[in-house]
Amino acid sequence: MSNVFYVPGKQRAARVGDLFAGIARRYDLLNDLQSFGLHRLWKRRVVSLADVKPGDRALDLCCGTGDIAFALAKNGAEVTGLDFSEKMLEVAQTRLQHSKLSPRSTGQTQNLKFLQGDAEQLPFPDNSFDAVTMGYGLRNLSSWEGGLREMIRVAKPGGRIVVLDFGKPANALWRSLYFAHLKCSVPLIGLIFCGNPQAYAYILESLKHYPAQRAVAKKMRELQLANVQVVDFVGGAMAINFGQKPARV
Ligand SMILES: C[S@@+](CC[C@H](N)C(=O)[O-])C[C@H]1O[C@@H](n2cnc3c(N)ncnc32)[C@H](O)[C@@H]1O
Repeated sequence: MSNVFYVPGKQRAARVGDLFAGIARRYDLLNDLQSFGLHRLWKRRVVSLADVKPGDRALDLCCGTGDIAFALAKNGAEVTGLDFSEKMLEVAQTRLQHSKLSPRSTGQTQNLKFLQGDAEQLPFPDNSFDAVTMGYGLRNLSSWEGGLREMIRVAKPGGRIVVLDFGKPANALWRSLYFAHLKCSVPLIGLIFCGNPQAYAYILESLKHYPAQRAVAKKMRELQLANVQVVDFVGGAMAINFGQKPARV
């Protein structure tokens, strides 16, 4: 059965926008529940691969409620988090206000801002950022290849491109078990905690149409990125694609 939130082509963005508008308030809670909290570790790895230093400029695309953007800012970078969903950005902005007002604030979030925009048409000139990250975004774009090209375009020569997303395990047995989890348990968690099983059934539907880590790595090589790496977690159920923009592309 097809999913109401998945449509190919030009209408894709509107449906994806509706999906995230509907779950924004519960997004962080559901992330913890469906990944057993592990998404925090995977995002930490994204940030370590982005390897930002104080003064670096970093861009976190499809930033949602801002987990990766906050972590990059804590490492001293000047960070822009970009997303097209007003509702997801509202949650990110609220977190930002709280972190600025917190007595424990170290001032690092002064360098963080959130911006509404389309990851497939970035409002930045070429060669602008030392690191460009994207967590659970590439699979949602109308064209993942177009999104990757935009990431590379705005990265500086030598800049790090880091993409975290659901993966496709190479082992057939593990892949079937994992897809069964995405088909049954994850929508059930969506139903119980968010009243929206379809939004969570969308994960499997979108993953079926996404070629995942190995094809993304192949495309990164075709686009002439250097040091291309795939970091698999949980037997490839989750993965990071990493590459560096060479001096000339
Ligand atoms: C699954 S959430 C990921 C949020 C966050 N990066 C994280 O890892 O928790 C995907 C986000 O991508 C955003 N998104 C999807 N397509 C987009 C596009 N074309 N441009 C900008 N944001 C987009 C959605 O609004 C949503 O906030």
